[in-house]
Amino acid sequence: MCGIVGYVGSDQAAPILLDGLARLEYRGYDSAGIAVVSENKELQVKKSKGRLQVLSDIINGGKSVEGVLGIGHTRWATHGEPNDVNAHPHLSQDGKIAVVHNGIIENYVELRDFLKAKGYVFQSETDTEVVTQLLSFYYAEDSDIFNAVFKVLRRIEGAYALGIICADCPDRFLAARKDAPLLVGFGEGENFIASDVTAIIKHTREVAYMEDGEVAVISAEGVSFYNIMEQPIEKEHSTIDWDVSAAEKGGYAHFMLKEIMEQPEAIRKTAFSRIRDNKVFFEDLSIGAEYIKSISKIYIVACGSSYHVGMVGKYNLERMLRKPVEVCLASEFRYCDPLVDDKSLVIVISQSGETLDTMAALREAKNLGAHILSIVNVVGSSIARESDDVIYTWAGPEIAVATTKAYSTQLVLLNMLGMYFGDILGTLSKEEYDAIMGELLLLPTKMEKMLEDIEDIKHFASDYFNHSSVFFIGRNLDYAMGLEGSLKLKEISYIHSEAYASGELKHGTISLIEKGTLVIALGTYAPLFDKAMSNVVEVQARGADVLALTTESNVSEMRKTVENVMTVPESHTIFQPSLGVVPLQLFAYYVALLRGCDIDKPRNLAKSVTVE
Ligand code: G6P
Repeated sequence: MCGIVGYVGSDQAAPILLDGLARLEYRGYDSAGIAVVSENKELQVKKSKGRLQVLSDIINGGKSVEGVLGIGHTRWATHGEPNDVNAHPHLSQDGKIAVVHNGIIENYVELRDFLKAKGYVFQSETDTEVVTQLLSFYYAEDSDIFNAVFKVLRRIEGAYALGIICADCPDRFLAARKDAPLLVGFGEGENFIASDVTAIIKHTREVAYMEDGEVAVISAEGVSFYNIMEQPIEKEHSTIDWDVSAAEKGGYAHFMLKEIMEQPEAIRKTAFSRIRDNKVFFEDLSIGAEYIKSISKIYIVACGSSYHVGMVGKYNLERMLRKPVEVCLASEFRYCDPLVDDKSLVIVISQSGETLDTMAALREAKNLGAHILSIVNVVGSSIARESDDVIYTWAGPEIAVATTKAYSTQLVLLNMLGMYFGDILGTLSKEEYDAIMGELLLLPTKMEKMLEDIEDIKHFASDYFNHSSVFFIGRNLDYAMGLEGSLKLKEISYIHSEAYASGELKHGTISLIEKGTLVIALGTYAPLFDKAMSNVVEVQARGADVLALTTESNVSEMRKTVENVMTVPESHTIFQPSLGVVPLQLFAYYVALLRGCDIDKPRNLAKSVTVE
C-alpha cells in the first residue's frame, strides 16, 4: 500500500527520496510524488501517475530538484482515481505546506465542507488534501507549523502516518502517526522518516518506531518527539538486524524467486534457535502452563496467505493438542461478535504486522479478554506491539508481494507452537514428539534438495501456462496447502484458480470440469492417498488434464493414472505441506514468468493492506 519516505541532511534530497520510494515499490502503488524545500524557501512538488520511473524521468533522477529536505510518497488509490492530481504530496492553497499521508481520514467530508465555507478550493478528490488545507488554515493563525500540526491532529479522525513540510521551515519537517506505521531513522548529520524500514536501510539501521499519537520534529541535527499533549518524550532506539543486501535481488531475476530459494535458511533461522536438546523452547512467552491448560478454544485470525497458514495449523494443532481450533478471516472475525473470552487463545498471524483487518480483529479479541499471541515477521510492527506475546519469524525482509518465505516460516512456527503446547498438555506422546522433532530438524535440508532440481516444474509450467482456469483439489492438509498454491498462481499469473476440498467437488464445482480443464491434484497427505487417487480418476473421467503432486513413495502409484507428476520428499504429515507448497510456489512463478507478468508487483495488489 502507500509508502512514505522523508529526508533532511546535507545531500540533495530528491535522489534520496526517489531511491527510498523505489525500495517501497514492492508494497504496491499507482502514483508517486515528492516535495522538496529549497534553501530560498521555495516548495517544489513533483508527482505523477504510474510507475516511479515516470516521475524519475520527469525530474532527471531527482537532479533537477534543488534542496536538502523533502518528503516522498507512493500512493495506492483509495479516495479518487490514480492520477497526477490525486497523487501525493498535496500542496496547500497558499503553496506553503506539503503533506504525504498513509491511511484514511474518516471525517474528511465534514472538514472539507468546513474549509470550503472558509473559501478553500480543493484540487483533488483525496482525504489527504483536507489535512493540507486544514494545516494551512491553522498555520495562518500564528505562522507556527508545530502548533498547526497539533491543532489538526485534534480535529482529524481515522488512521494516518503523516509527513509534513513547510516552506517557511527549510531546516526541519514533521511526522505524526496513528494506526499506520511510521518510523524515524537516525543518521550522521541527516535523519529520515519511512513507513517501512526498507526505504532507509541503505542509510541507517538505527531507528525509533513511532507510537500512536506521537509527533516528531526532524532536522539534520536531531529529532525531537512529542506526545499528543505536546510534551517532549524520549524514544527508545532499535537496531535493525539485517542490511541492505537482504532487500536486494542478489542476482535473481525476481525477489519472489530469491525468497523461494531462501526458505531453507529462513526456516533454520526461525526454528533452530528455538530448539535445545531436541526440545522446542519459547523462552520469551509470558503465557504460562496453567493458562495453556485452561484454554478452551484456540482461534487463528489472519488474512491472505497468513490465513492459509492457519488452515494448515488447524489440522495440525487439533491433532497435537486435542483442543478445538477455529481459523477466522480477520475481516470477518472483527464483525461477527466472536465467542471469545478469557479462556480463549487467539493466535494472530501476519507477515507485515500492519494488516488493518488483522489489527482490528486483534483489538476486538483483546477487548473480549483473550490472550493474544502473534506470529509476525516485521519487528516492531503494530500487531507485534499490541499482542500479549509475539513470536517473530525472523524471515528477513520479504519484498515480493506474493509471500513465500514468510508463509513457510509462519507455518513452521505454528507447528512448533503445537509441539510446545502439546508437550505441556501431555497430548503428544514422547514418541510422537520425537518423530515430529526429527522431521523438523531435517526439513531445511529436504527443502534444499528439492530446490536444487526444479527442471520438471519449469517443464510443467511451460506445458500449462496457457490455461485460463485451474482447480487445485486435495483433502485434509492437501486441501489447506492447495488454498495457498491456488492463491500463489492466481495472484501473480492472473489465471483464474480455485482450491477445493476434493470431497466437496461433486457438490457443484465438478460441473466446471470439461475436456482440457487443468486440475492440480494434491496427494501428499499419506493417510488419504487412496481417496486422492479416486478423485483424480473422477476428474479425468470428465476430461480434465491432471497435474499431480505426491510424495516419493507414492509416485509410482500415482503415475499409473497420471502422466505428469511433481514429487516431494516424505516427511511427517505435520510438515508435509511445508515441502508440498514449494513446487506450487515455483509452478506459479514459472507460469507467471512465461505469461510475461510483473511477478514481484502484481496488478492491484499490495504487500501490506492497511485499509479495510
Ligand atoms: C496481502 C499480501 C499477502 C498477505 C496478506 C496478509 O494481501 O499480498 O501476501 O498474505 O496481505 O498480510 P500479512 O502481512 O498480515 O500477513
